[in-house]
Amino acid sequence: MSQVETRRAADPGDLESLAPIVGWAFGGGAPRALEWLRGAGAAHVRVASLGGKVAGGLLEIPMGQWFGGQSVPTLGLAGVAVAPEARGQKLAFTLVRDTLRAARQQGVALSTLYPSTYGLYRKLGYEVAGSLCRFTLQLRQLPRRSRAAPVEPLGDEWQPAMEASYRESARHQNGYLDRGAYVWNRVRRPNQELARAFGLHGSGGLEGYLYVRVGSPARVPLELVLSDFVARTPRAQEAFLAFLADHLTTAERATWTGASADPRLYALSDRCLQVSIEDYWMLRLVDVRAALLGRGYPGLDVALELHVQDELLPENAGHYLLSVRGGVASLDERVAAPVARLSVGSLAALYSGHASPWQLAAVGLLEADEPARVALARAFAGPAPGLCDFF
Ligand SMILES: CC(C)(COP(=O)(O)OP(=O)(O)OC[C@H]1O[C@@H](n2cnc3c(N)ncnc32)[C@H](O)[C@@H]1OP(=O)(O)O)[C@@H](O)C(=O)NCCC(=O)NCCS
Repeated sequence: MSQVETRRAADPGDLESLAPIVGWAFGGGAPRALEWLRGAGAAHVRVASLGGKVAGGLLEIPMGQWFGGQSVPTLGLAGVAVAPEARGQKLAFTLVRDTLRAARQQGVALSTLYPSTYGLYRKLGYEVAGSLCRFTLQLRQLPRRSRAAPVEPLGDEWQPAMEASYRESARHQNGYLDRGAYVWNRVRRPNQELARAFGLHGSGGLEGYLYVRVGSPARVPLELVLSDFVARTPRAQEAFLAFLADHLTTAERATWTGASADPRLYALSDRCLQVSIEDYWMLRLVDVRAALLGRGYPGLDVALELHVQDELLPENAGHYLLSVRGGVASLDERVAAPVARLSVGSLAALYSGHASPWQLAAVGLLEADEPARVALARAFAGPAPGLCDFF
């Protein structure tokens, strides 16, 4: 078997070699894949070669992820692809392993991705840690309402205000991305189409905004596809629902994605909003120490001794004495604390708040007595973790 080597993409030639592999793996063809890879930039692409020939690759997306109100540096992985003739020879495993090692060196605390198979990523220390839900609002079932306030088109000059508004809203939702340029571009240009921005202004600035486009415009009734939907006041919530309802002569529904507990649910009396889990995402604690210290624990007092196993990144393995006082975390205090033993993957499922300690213990993924389970549940409590962005 030939030697697998991985490296950062060096020149445009690497992207051209990788494009047909990505185009084949995900459909869509090589030209479209090349455009996507070029858009991200060679600096964010890692390739694997077999016998000196590029046979696989992936895209790295540096950003943050909100946990407990703090943005923790995370590396999104996308487009993991191996040429059909090179599969089954550990290319994908080696690519992701080397990416994680390099990311750790650079101070990245977490890594997140949408898996096409759990087994591959579980071996790499990832675990299922949250969902992405699709919401479908049936516009005809919305009560007729007059617009509470004017919703106006927003030009590009409003982008910084929209980004600030998103951050203020996203930081309270465990798992949401602290978006970088790559994800913002997907919000503004979903499927290479331009989404239009509309917003509501208030005395204190922008109260919310939508990025919306018309999906499948050839088919009537139309669907309004929202690639972002931020409403930070009840007034904005009302105004945007009325704005969407004003499209019902030609549009049947509006859709968007997000965490399972959508605030719009509280503004609707009828069951005109349907929800489905579109995907689960996986999380990896790349640097356990940085991940534990980097997240927030709002107002919490708790102490825990975590014994973590991590075969892939042995620097993570060992015990961590996590002590949180008044919401401030430390790993250096000597305190008596209940003990939990778990793998780095199980810790990821707990860290995001996706799985409870009792659920993990029931399937043999956590060793912890009752006081330790209670402490774990308190430490990582929060809204059900979600993502609203694909990447
Ligand atoms: C998924 C994919 C990247 C795997 O690449 P690969 O180089 O063949 O994978 P590896 O040889 O490194 O496999 C490592 C482990 O992953 C798991 N795995 C690999 N391919 C798998 C598959 N098709 N189904 C389930 N598990 C798989 C296995 O557990 C394997 O370990 P093992 O060989 O000890 O059993 C490749 O099949 C591919 O390009 N598929 C199309 C695109 C895709 O699905 N990408 C992933 C997006 S998240």
